[in-house]
Amino acid sequence: MELVNFTSFKGGAGKTTALMAVCSCLLERGKKVAIFEADDNRPISKWRDNAIEKGTWHDNCSVLIADTLSNFEAAYEEASKSGYHIALADSQGGGSNLNDMILINSDFIVLPTALTTLDADEVIETYQHVIKTLAREGLEIDLAILKTRVPTSKLTQSQMRTSTLLDELPVFSQPLHLRDAFADMKFKGLLHQTILKMKQNPNDALHASHFQKAIDEADIITADILSALENATNGN
Ligand SMILES: Nc1ncnc2c1ncn2[C@@H]1O[C@H](COP(=O)(O)OP(=O)(O)OP(=O)(O)O)[C@@H](O)[C@H]1O
Ligand SMILES: [Mg+2]
Repeated sequence: MELVNFTSFKGGAGKTTALMAVCSCLLERGKKVAIFEADDNRPISKWRDNAIEKGTWHDNCSVLIADTLSNFEAAYEEASKSGYHIALADSQGGGSNLNDMILINSDFIVLPTALTTLDADEVIETYQHVIKTLAREGLEIDLAILKTRVPTSKLTQSQMRTSTLLDELPVFSQPLHLRDAFADMKFKGLLHQTILKMKQNPNDALHASHFQKAIDEADIITADILSALENATNGN
């Protein structure tokens, strides 16, 4: 089992949303996915409950509570022995011993950020913290910044400057744009199960085509994560 960690110092950076989108794509690709709920607010458990109610959940996905060091260890052990291919950790914003523990047990780290100056400052600070923590532990773990909530319209000068600044660091070439499909996931459930339902209703055809764009973006990021994990396994 491999652990992909979604983390940031800043609250509201887009961690949970990015995780949900990648989770949908991993399940669609036939992976068995465990989600480590490391945020006391339990957004992932709420998401799962909403999805189950709407019939948009997937049997190959389980949520394991990992909100303390010992719960994280138990979740990791449970996911490893139960045949999950991948675990996704939804960390709470800020620095903590728990977040550092998740960091050093990760196989890939995703650092989501919006393109405001404040968000960029915080993601750079998080990036530096991650690098320092990994160096202290003598670890080399692949990581990438994920630009998210990127407007679909033309970027402002300031957003463009932030985007260019972030390009100096390891960054996913594909951003997640600001889309209703992403914002609505927490109520509607998994992306692929939701679009299947939409396609059954002819009135939803236009909505489904917007939705597909969100899925395509998330799938490119998922493919990048999977290939980074594969490269790490092969020792490249
Ligand atoms: N790409 C996106 N398109 C539209 N809305 C988004 C996108 N990414 C995030 N959001 C919205 O922004 C808000 C914050 O996102 P999210 O909850 O994923 O951040 P977070 O980093 O997990 O926050 P927290 O630190 O509180 O856990 C949410 O309301 C979410 O729906
Ligand atoms: Mg969150």
